[in-house]
Amino acid sequence: MTNPRLTSHSRSVAGKVVLVTGAASGMGRAEAHLFADEGAKVAVTDLRQADVDAVVGEITAVGGEAAGYVLDVTDPDAISAVVDRIRTDLGPVDVLINNAGISIGAPIDADDFEDSWALAIDVLLTAHQRMVRACLPDLRASGEGRIVNISSTEGLGAQRGTLPYTTAKHGVIGLTRALAVDLAADGITVNAICPGPILTGMTDVIPTEHREKFARRRTALRRYGDPEEVAHMVLNLALPASSYVTGTVIPVDGGQTMKND
Ligand code: NAI
Repeated sequence: MTNPRLTSHSRSVAGKVVLVTGAASGMGRAEAHLFADEGAKVAVTDLRQADVDAVVGEITAVGGEAAGYVLDVTDPDAISAVVDRIRTDLGPVDVLINNAGISIGAPIDADDFEDSWALAIDVLLTAHQRMVRACLPDLRASGEGRIVNISSTEGLGAQRGTLPYTTAKHGVIGLTRALAVDLAADGITVNAICPGPILTGMTDVIPTEHREKFARRRTALRRYGDPEEVAHMVLNLALPASSYVTGTVIPVDGGQTMKND
Protein backbone atom coordinates (compact mmCIF):
# COMPACT_ATOMS: atom_id res chain seq x y z
CA MET A 1 0.00 0.00 0.00
CA THR A 2 1.30 3.47 -0.84
CA ASN A 3 1.23 6.26 1.72
CA PRO A 4 -1.38 9.00 1.28
CA ARG A 5 0.20 11.99 -0.48
CA LEU A 6 0.68 15.36 1.22
CA THR A 7 0.83 17.30 -2.05
CA SER A 8 -1.71 17.79 -4.80
CA HIS A 9 0.13 18.42 -8.08
CA SER A 10 0.72 15.36 -10.21
CA ARG A 11 4.10 14.40 -11.61
CA SER A 12 2.55 11.88 -13.97
CA VAL A 13 1.73 12.16 -17.66
CA ALA A 14 0.17 8.68 -17.72
CA GLY A 15 -2.77 8.63 -20.12
CA LYS A 16 -1.95 12.02 -21.64
CA VAL A 17 -1.91 12.29 -25.42
CA VAL A 18 1.44 13.72 -26.54
CA LEU A 19 2.12 14.83 -30.11
CA VAL A 20 5.81 15.00 -31.06
CA THR A 21 6.91 16.45 -34.40
CA GLY A 22 10.13 15.17 -35.95
CA ALA A 23 9.85 12.15 -33.66
CA ALA A 24 11.76 9.66 -35.83
CA SER A 25 15.24 10.85 -34.90
CA GLY A 26 17.39 12.52 -32.26
CA MET A 27 15.61 14.49 -29.58
CA GLY A 28 12.11 13.83 -30.96
CA ARG A 29 12.67 10.09 -30.77
CA ALA A 30 14.05 10.40 -27.23
CA GLU A 31 10.99 12.45 -26.26
CA ALA A 32 8.66 9.83 -27.76
CA HIS A 33 10.50 7.09 -25.84
CA LEU A 34 10.43 8.97 -22.53
CA PHE A 35 6.76 9.96 -22.65
CA ALA A 36 5.86 6.37 -23.57
CA ASP A 37 7.95 5.11 -20.63
CA GLU A 38 5.94 7.45 -18.42
CA GLY A 39 2.63 5.98 -19.61
CA ALA A 40 1.59 8.66 -22.11
CA LYS A 41 -0.05 7.87 -25.46
CA VAL A 42 2.43 9.13 -28.02
CA ALA A 43 1.63 10.38 -31.52
CA VAL A 44 4.90 9.83 -33.37
CA THR A 45 5.01 12.13 -36.40
CA ASP A 46 7.74 12.64 -39.01
CA LEU A 47 8.35 12.82 -42.75
CA ARG A 48 8.69 9.13 -43.68
CA GLN A 49 6.40 6.21 -42.89
CA ALA A 50 9.20 3.67 -42.36
CA ASP A 51 10.98 5.95 -39.84
CA VAL A 52 7.77 6.64 -37.94
CA ASP A 53 6.90 2.93 -37.91
CA ALA A 54 10.33 2.10 -36.50
CA VAL A 55 9.85 4.37 -33.46
CA VAL A 56 6.29 3.15 -32.89
CA GLY A 57 7.66 -0.40 -33.03
CA GLU A 58 10.34 0.43 -30.44
CA ILE A 59 7.66 1.77 -28.09
CA THR A 60 5.07 -0.97 -28.54
CA ALA A 61 7.76 -3.69 -28.24
CA VAL A 62 8.20 -2.73 -24.58
CA GLY A 63 4.47 -2.36 -23.89
CA GLY A 64 4.15 1.38 -24.50
CA GLU A 65 1.32 3.06 -26.38
CA ALA A 66 2.02 4.93 -29.62
CA ALA A 67 0.66 5.54 -33.09
CA GLY A 68 2.59 6.82 -36.09
CA TYR A 69 1.70 9.46 -38.66
CA VAL A 70 3.48 10.86 -41.68
CA LEU A 71 3.50 14.61 -41.20
CA ASP A 72 5.42 17.35 -42.96
CA VAL A 73 5.04 20.31 -40.62
CA THR A 74 5.19 22.75 -43.55
CA ASP A 75 1.92 21.35 -44.95
CA PRO A 76 -1.07 23.03 -43.26
CA ASP A 77 -3.66 20.63 -44.74
CA ALA A 78 -1.69 17.61 -43.56
CA ILE A 79 -1.41 19.12 -40.07
CA SER A 80 -5.15 19.39 -39.56
CA ALA A 81 -5.79 15.96 -41.10
CA VAL A 82 -3.19 14.32 -38.83
CA VAL A 83 -4.44 16.08 -35.69
CA ASP A 84 -7.97 14.84 -36.55
CA ARG A 85 -6.68 11.29 -36.92
CA ILE A 86 -4.77 11.48 -33.64
CA ARG A 87 -7.94 12.66 -31.89
CA THR A 88 -9.78 9.62 -33.25
CA ASP A 89 -6.99 7.11 -32.60
CA LEU A 90 -5.55 8.24 -29.27
CA GLY A 91 -7.76 11.08 -28.03
CA PRO A 92 -7.46 14.87 -27.97
CA VAL A 93 -3.93 16.25 -27.71
CA ASP A 94 -2.86 17.32 -24.19
CA VAL A 95 0.81 18.02 -24.92
CA LEU A 96 2.31 19.41 -28.13
CA ILE A 97 6.06 19.21 -28.63
CA ASN A 98 7.25 21.33 -31.55
CA ASN A 99 10.55 19.60 -32.18
CA ALA A 100 10.95 19.00 -35.94
CA GLY A 101 13.85 20.87 -37.45
CA ILE A 102 16.55 21.12 -40.06
CA SER A 103 20.01 22.57 -39.99
CA ILE A 104 20.21 25.30 -42.57
CA GLY A 105 22.96 27.84 -42.86
CA ALA A 106 23.54 30.53 -45.44
CA PRO A 107 25.65 33.70 -45.43
CA ILE A 108 23.72 36.88 -46.20
CA ASP A 109 25.34 37.17 -49.66
CA ALA A 110 24.67 33.57 -50.75
CA ASP A 111 22.97 33.24 -54.15
CA ASP A 112 20.23 31.05 -52.71
CA PHE A 113 19.80 33.10 -49.54
CA GLU A 114 16.10 33.81 -50.18
CA ASP A 115 15.38 30.08 -50.51
CA SER A 116 17.32 29.18 -47.37
CA TRP A 117 15.61 31.95 -45.44
CA ALA A 118 12.11 30.91 -46.57
CA LEU A 119 12.76 27.25 -45.78
CA ALA A 120 14.21 27.94 -42.33
CA ILE A 121 11.36 30.21 -41.31
CA ASP A 122 8.78 27.76 -42.69
CA VAL A 123 10.11 24.60 -40.99
CA LEU A 124 11.47 26.09 -37.78
CA LEU A 125 9.01 28.86 -36.96
CA THR A 126 5.83 29.05 -39.06
CA ALA A 127 5.21 25.33 -38.54
CA HIS A 128 5.14 25.84 -34.78
CA GLN A 129 2.23 28.27 -34.91
CA ARG A 130 0.42 26.03 -37.41
CA MET A 131 0.74 23.07 -35.06
CA VAL A 132 -0.46 25.17 -32.13
CA ARG A 133 -3.50 26.42 -34.06
CA ALA A 134 -4.46 22.90 -35.15
CA CYS A 135 -4.15 21.53 -31.58
CA LEU A 136 -5.67 24.54 -29.83
CA PRO A 137 -9.24 23.23 -29.30
CA ASP A 138 -7.79 20.04 -27.78
CA LEU A 139 -5.26 21.89 -25.62
CA ARG A 140 -8.00 24.22 -24.36
CA ALA A 141 -10.30 21.31 -23.52
CA SER A 142 -7.46 19.47 -21.72
CA GLY A 143 -7.42 21.88 -18.79
CA GLU A 144 -3.70 21.06 -18.46
CA GLY A 145 -2.60 21.86 -22.02
CA ARG A 146 1.14 22.04 -22.52
CA ILE A 147 3.22 23.35 -25.44
CA VAL A 148 6.98 22.85 -25.49
CA ASN A 149 8.88 24.50 -28.33
CA ILE A 150 12.40 23.41 -29.18
CA SER A 151 14.48 26.50 -29.90
CA SER A 152 18.27 26.37 -29.59
CA THR A 153 21.22 28.18 -28.04
CA GLU A 154 21.10 29.77 -31.52
CA GLY A 155 17.91 31.43 -30.22
CA LEU A 156 20.00 33.17 -27.56
CA GLY A 157 23.11 34.09 -29.53
CA ALA A 158 24.61 33.60 -32.96
CA GLN A 159 27.31 31.67 -34.75
CA ARG A 160 28.78 32.61 -38.11
CA GLY A 161 26.95 31.51 -41.26
CA THR A 162 23.70 30.40 -39.67
CA LEU A 163 21.58 33.52 -40.22
CA PRO A 164 18.27 31.90 -41.34
CA TYR A 165 18.43 29.21 -38.64
CA THR A 166 19.43 31.67 -35.93
CA THR A 167 16.69 34.10 -36.88
CA ALA A 168 14.06 31.36 -36.84
CA LYS A 169 15.23 30.06 -33.44
CA HIS A 170 15.11 33.59 -31.97
CA GLY A 171 11.59 33.75 -33.41
CA VAL A 172 10.61 30.58 -31.56
CA ILE A 173 11.38 32.36 -28.29
CA GLY A 174 9.21 35.34 -29.26
CA LEU A 175 6.42 32.98 -30.31
CA THR A 176 6.72 31.13 -26.99
CA ARG A 177 6.45 34.27 -24.90
CA ALA A 178 3.56 35.75 -26.90
CA LEU A 179 1.63 32.47 -26.82
CA ALA A 180 2.29 32.04 -23.10
CA VAL A 181 0.56 35.35 -22.48
CA ASP A 182 -2.26 34.75 -24.96
CA LEU A 183 -3.07 31.21 -23.82
CA ALA A 184 -2.66 31.68 -20.07
CA ALA A 185 -6.40 32.16 -19.59
CA ASP A 186 -6.92 28.70 -21.11
CA GLY A 187 -4.61 27.07 -18.57
CA ILE A 188 -2.18 26.23 -21.36
CA THR A 189 1.50 26.70 -20.56
CA VAL A 190 4.00 27.46 -23.33
CA ASN A 191 7.73 27.11 -22.79
CA ALA A 192 10.87 26.90 -24.89
CA ILE A 193 13.96 24.76 -24.50
CA CYS A 194 17.30 25.82 -25.95
CA PRO A 195 19.43 22.73 -26.49
CA GLY A 196 23.15 23.20 -26.82
CA PRO A 197 25.24 20.69 -28.78
CA ILE A 198 23.35 17.39 -28.72
CA LEU A 199 24.39 14.22 -30.51
CA THR A 200 21.57 13.60 -33.02
CA GLY A 201 21.06 13.04 -36.73
CA MET A 202 21.63 16.78 -37.17
CA THR A 203 25.08 16.86 -35.57
CA ASP A 204 26.19 13.34 -36.55
CA VAL A 205 27.52 14.77 -39.81
CA ILE A 206 30.07 16.94 -37.98
CA PRO A 207 33.45 15.15 -37.79
CA THR A 208 34.00 13.69 -34.31
CA GLU A 209 37.18 15.69 -33.65
CA HIS A 210 35.36 18.96 -34.42
CA ARG A 211 32.50 17.99 -32.15
CA GLU A 212 34.84 17.10 -29.30
CA LYS A 213 36.90 20.27 -29.71
CA PHE A 214 33.77 22.44 -29.69
CA ALA A 215 32.34 20.70 -26.63
CA ARG A 216 35.61 20.94 -24.67
CA ARG A 217 36.03 24.63 -25.43
CA ARG A 218 32.45 25.85 -25.26
CA THR A 219 30.52 23.80 -22.69
CA ALA A 220 31.17 23.66 -18.95
CA LEU A 221 30.49 19.93 -18.99
CA ARG A 222 32.99 19.55 -21.88
CA ARG A 223 30.84 17.13 -23.85
CA TYR A 224 27.91 16.85 -26.22
CA GLY A 225 24.55 16.15 -24.63
CA ASP A 226 22.50 13.02 -25.10
CA PRO A 227 19.02 13.50 -26.66
CA GLU A 228 17.46 11.94 -23.57
CA GLU A 229 18.91 14.71 -21.40
CA VAL A 230 16.80 17.19 -23.38
CA ALA A 231 13.76 14.90 -23.33
CA HIS A 232 13.76 14.94 -19.52
CA MET A 233 13.47 18.73 -19.48
CA VAL A 234 10.62 18.52 -22.01
CA LEU A 235 8.87 16.05 -19.71
CA ASN A 236 9.36 18.34 -16.72
CA LEU A 237 7.66 21.21 -18.54
CA ALA A 238 4.81 18.95 -19.66
CA LEU A 239 3.93 17.68 -16.18
CA PRO A 240 0.60 18.71 -14.66
CA ALA A 241 2.77 19.83 -11.71
CA SER A 242 4.50 22.43 -13.88
CA SER A 243 1.29 24.48 -13.99
CA TYR A 244 2.96 27.74 -12.83
CA VAL A 245 5.82 27.60 -15.33
CA THR A 246 5.05 29.47 -18.53
CA GLY A 247 6.85 31.71 -20.99
CA THR A 248 10.23 30.44 -19.82
CA VAL A 249 13.27 29.81 -21.99
CA ILE A 250 15.43 27.04 -20.59
CA PRO A 251 18.89 26.18 -21.93
CA VAL A 252 19.80 22.49 -21.79
CA ASP A 253 23.30 23.12 -22.98
CA GLY A 254 25.90 21.69 -20.59
CA GLY A 255 26.59 25.24 -19.42
CA GLN A 256 27.39 26.62 -22.88
CA THR A 257 25.51 29.90 -22.63
CA MET A 258 26.76 30.89 -19.18
CA LYS A 259 30.41 29.94 -19.72
CA ASN A 260 32.75 32.93 -20.02
CA ASP A 261 36.21 31.37 -20.11
P1 NAI B 1 17.44 15.21 -36.13
O1 NAI B 1 17.87 15.53 -37.51
O2 NAI B 1 18.01 14.02 -35.46
O3 NAI B 1 15.86 15.12 -36.05
C1 NAI B 1 15.04 16.08 -36.68
C2 NAI B 1 13.79 15.38 -37.19
O4 NAI B 1 12.92 16.37 -37.75
C3 NAI B 1 14.09 14.35 -38.28
O5 NAI B 1 13.52 13.09 -37.96
C4 NAI B 1 13.47 14.97 -39.52
O6 NAI B 1 12.95 14.02 -40.44
C5 NAI B 1 12.38 15.82 -38.93
N1 NAI B 1 11.94 16.86 -39.86
C6 NAI B 1 12.72 17.70 -40.60
N2 NAI B 1 11.94 18.48 -41.39
C7 NAI B 1 10.65 18.13 -41.10
C8 NAI B 1 9.40 18.57 -41.59
N3 NAI B 1 9.30 19.52 -42.54
N4 NAI B 1 8.28 18.00 -41.08
C9 NAI B 1 8.37 17.05 -40.13
N5 NAI B 1 9.52 16.57 -39.64
C10 NAI B 1 10.66 17.12 -40.12
O7 NAI B 1 17.78 16.54 -35.30
P2 NAI B 1 17.65 16.95 -33.77
O8 NAI B 1 18.94 17.50 -33.39
O9 NAI B 1 17.03 15.89 -32.96
O10 NAI B 1 16.64 18.18 -33.92
C11 NAI B 1 15.49 18.37 -33.10
C12 NAI B 1 15.32 19.84 -32.83
O11 NAI B 1 16.37 20.31 -31.99
C13 NAI B 1 15.36 20.74 -34.07
O12 NAI B 1 14.36 21.73 -33.97
C14 NAI B 1 16.74 21.35 -34.01
O13 NAI B 1 16.79 22.59 -34.69
C15 NAI B 1 16.92 21.50 -32.53
N6 NAI B 1 18.28 21.66 -32.03
C16 NAI B 1 19.25 20.69 -32.26
C17 NAI B 1 20.50 20.83 -31.70
C18 NAI B 1 21.56 19.77 -31.83
O14 NAI B 1 22.70 20.01 -31.40
N7 NAI B 1 21.28 18.61 -32.35
C19 NAI B 1 20.85 22.02 -30.90
C20 NAI B 1 19.77 22.94 -30.73
C21 NAI B 1 18.55 22.76 -31.29
